[in-house]
Amino acid sequence: MAANVVVVGSLNMDLVTRAERLPRPGETLAGESFTTVAGGKGANQAVAAARLGGRVAMIGCVGDDAYGEQLRQALEHERIDCQAVTRIEGISTGVALIVVDASSQNAIVIVAGGNGSLTPEAVMRFDSLLLAADLVICQLEVPPATVEHTLKRARALGKTVILNPAPVTGPLPVDWYSSIDYLIPNESEAAALSGLPVDSLETARVAAQRLLELGVGKVIITLGEQGALFADAQGFEHFPAPRVQALDTTAAGDTFVGGFAAALVQGRGEREAIAFGQAAAALSVTRAGAQPSIPFLDEVRQP
Ligand code: RIB
Repeated sequence: MAANVVVVGSLNMDLVTRAERLPRPGETLAGESFTTVAGGKGANQAVAAARLGGRVAMIGCVGDDAYGEQLRQALEHERIDCQAVTRIEGISTGVALIVVDASSQNAIVIVAGGNGSLTPEAVMRFDSLLLAADLVICQLEVPPATVEHTLKRARALGKTVILNPAPVTGPLPVDWYSSIDYLIPNESEAAALSGLPVDSLETARVAAQRLLELGVGKVIITLGEQGALFADAQGFEHFPAPRVQALDTTAAGDTFVGGFAAALVQGRGEREAIAFGQAAAALSVTRAGAQPSIPFLDEVRQP
């Protein structure tokens, strides 16, 4: 059966160190452990959507090294359609250098590698996947021209369009907003996009209002321990976060996005889908790593 969720985005091998704290500039710290873990925001969201009930296809690029093959195999293991995961000769696969501290916070440096080769043309070659899908998800770890093409094409095809604007450095092109049904930033991304500070529920409402005014359909700002704020033309709703003991927050946002998308394509209403995404993300932070931390459907308490 054709995929109902298509993810257009990145695949990274995460090189993960745990340390007591994050290093300061110029400082050398002794780490406590080192692991290589399948990651990348696009691939993580694809895995989350697949484990949580979606039929998923991934459009992305890897390099011609062992990491690329391992990442593809990890997705195939989840029954994700990888016909559009292209291996690019002469280039390395994307990597993320991640340090996780004792309080479960992380700092990440990404090197795009193959992700930088995901051109609009590469997405056009697999237009049939977009055509067959119900919902399309993008993030910002691939070239902006590719995100722009995907958002606009998916909108033209009448698909539900999700943009997780991560990582973000500043405002998005204004003409992207009207192609997005659900914009899902975290606090710092919402601040960068709106140009407004976001450090509380109240300031999140103001930023969400600004993003709605830019033309996006609906906004969900994820606020970590403070839960999530949903905003649309009718108003705002706060969804408190389930209480958990966090071990590693890597890919929590990706799990929320994938879980939310999977719930939508299974016919759940958006409020139920938000609560479901939150329940999945809460479980993911109790486990280490990106893709290994993402729960399966039967593990998530149904809201
Ligand atoms: O969102 C978490 C992801 O961000 C990691 O898996 C890493 O690859 C970076 O892309």
